[in-house]
Amino acid sequence: MSSKFQELKNGIVYKNLFNGNWIESNTKKLIDIKSPINNKIIGSIQQMTKEEVDKSIENSKKAQKLWSDTPINERSRILNKAADIIEESVEELSDILVIEIAKDRKSAVSEVKRTADFIRFTADVSKQLEGETIPGDSFPGMKNNKISVVTRVPLGVVLAISPFNYPINLSASKIAPALAAGNSVILKPPTQGSISTLYLAQVFNEAGIPSGVLNTITGRGSEIGDYIVTHKDIDFINFTGSTDVGQHISKISTMKPLLLELGGKDAAIVLDDADLDEAADNIVAGAYSYSGQRCTAVKRVLAIDSIADKLVAKIKERVEKLKVGHPEEEGVVVSTLINSKSADFVMELIDDAKGKGANLLVGGNRKDNLIYPTLFDNVGLDMRIAWEEPFGPVLPIIRVKSIDEAIKISNESTYGLQGCIFTKNIDRAFYIANKLEVGTVQVNNKPERGPDHFPFLGVKASGMGTQGIRYSIEAMSRPKAIVLNLNKAN
Ligand code: NAP
Ligand code: G3H
Repeated sequence: MSSKFQELKNGIVYKNLFNGNWIESNTKKLIDIKSPINNKIIGSIQQMTKEEVDKSIENSKKAQKLWSDTPINERSRILNKAADIIEESVEELSDILVIEIAKDRKSAVSEVKRTADFIRFTADVSKQLEGETIPGDSFPGMKNNKISVVTRVPLGVVLAISPFNYPINLSASKIAPALAAGNSVILKPPTQGSISTLYLAQVFNEAGIPSGVLNTITGRGSEIGDYIVTHKDIDFINFTGSTDVGQHISKISTMKPLLLELGGKDAAIVLDDADLDEAADNIVAGAYSYSGQRCTAVKRVLAIDSIADKLVAKIKERVEKLKVGHPEEEGVVVSTLINSKSADFVMELIDDAKGKGANLLVGGNRKDNLIYPTLFDNVGLDMRIAWEEPFGPVLPIIRVKSIDEAIKISNESTYGLQGCIFTKNIDRAFYIANKLEVGTVQVNNKPERGPDHFPFLGVKASGMGTQGIRYSIEAMSRPKAIVLNLNKAN
């Protein structure tokens, strides 16, 4: 471990960042973090108490006042420094992702590098944000004696809650824009993923974020989550995770502004004029990378009947070649899932599809928490796999007779994150894209979040509000208007 990360742990016990220092909980109540790869303990984190949560939020509230007065060029300099530190620590941070969340080495390195790029871009965008002046007399009946001077101001203390699957990137994509806008941040890491997230917090600390501007609160969401999200001094909640938890937070956090990035059931619609090799490449990469544990994974294929046989053969050929194994091994795409609860759930969906007569083409089996890449053809709408998000390496193919049937099935989902269409006909692409009830439609590409300055959002059960660098800064700030009322000069 390089010296910059020494202070965040004592032996294998990880501490919390509080007012610029790494501290242990008074209760000494710890949660062991085991690697999904071999079930060995890789560290322990603190289960913080309500009193400690109070202290942490109170400290963030105080620190925010000074931070919002810090010039934007200085905030931007510190963010750039954080990006530098990440770039110097790619190997170290990737090592932790591999072991803590069983992310394959290539995806782990990509997550870390992308995070540095994200923070740097945020630092640049923060310097370009401008307000406006609005003359009063453009409104009917008004004289030219009023001007509104509108600037953007921070919201206060932002609570950032991130999921296990991108603990570094999806924490940084909340922290950096929140800080750029002048907020302080309380970071609640995912329990499995806490260690990676705490390393990220130390990156910001080392970069020179003033004491208290970023504090961390570890502990199980089921124990401490409700208390944090309903805390009176949290001014904004930026949450990424499951739809169940997101909807629960939305119910209990009355009158607190929220940004929710939740689950998905993204469809790949393949038309009869598509380049089937391009479609199959994208579908397989989209469905199985990081063992299918991505919100934007392709989670069902809607194939037009006339090309379905050919498309299915191409997808099957590619799925059979996917490398399964230890996330550290070169070329491995599918590894063990995050825990047994996830693996059990995926197997339930597989068993349901098998029982209802879906045609199992590849996989369908498991070894401990490793689910082998699984592909089903002729999936029916009565099967759970047609509608539920597995968050595992399982892909259902549903055959459809027409474009309108594909649109109908896609829109019948409770989710609405992304969708993708494979066709060479731009008119048909736009016809479908305009009708899909999702945040983003990709034409001839798999669903994906990046590039990270594009807007990223889910509709229906997939979320609320918009992320994306400039969008995130705007979401975590608000307009402040000062109206000049001009008297006649003489
Ligand atoms: P999760 O179980 O919902 O957990 C997400 C975060 O919420 C964790 O930090 C968790 O802490 C915390 N949490 C749990 N209960 C809470 C409560 N009552 N109050 C406050 N926080 C609470 O989700 P996950 O399993 O980590 O992630 C997978 C899900 O996230 C999938 O559904 C996926 O589609 C979705 N996701 C969506 C996006 C997107 O951008 N739309 C991106 C990534 C993932 P603990 O770990 O301590 O329980
Ligand atoms: O899991 C959700 C992530 O936001 C997906 O990002 O499309 O780059 O894998 P990605």
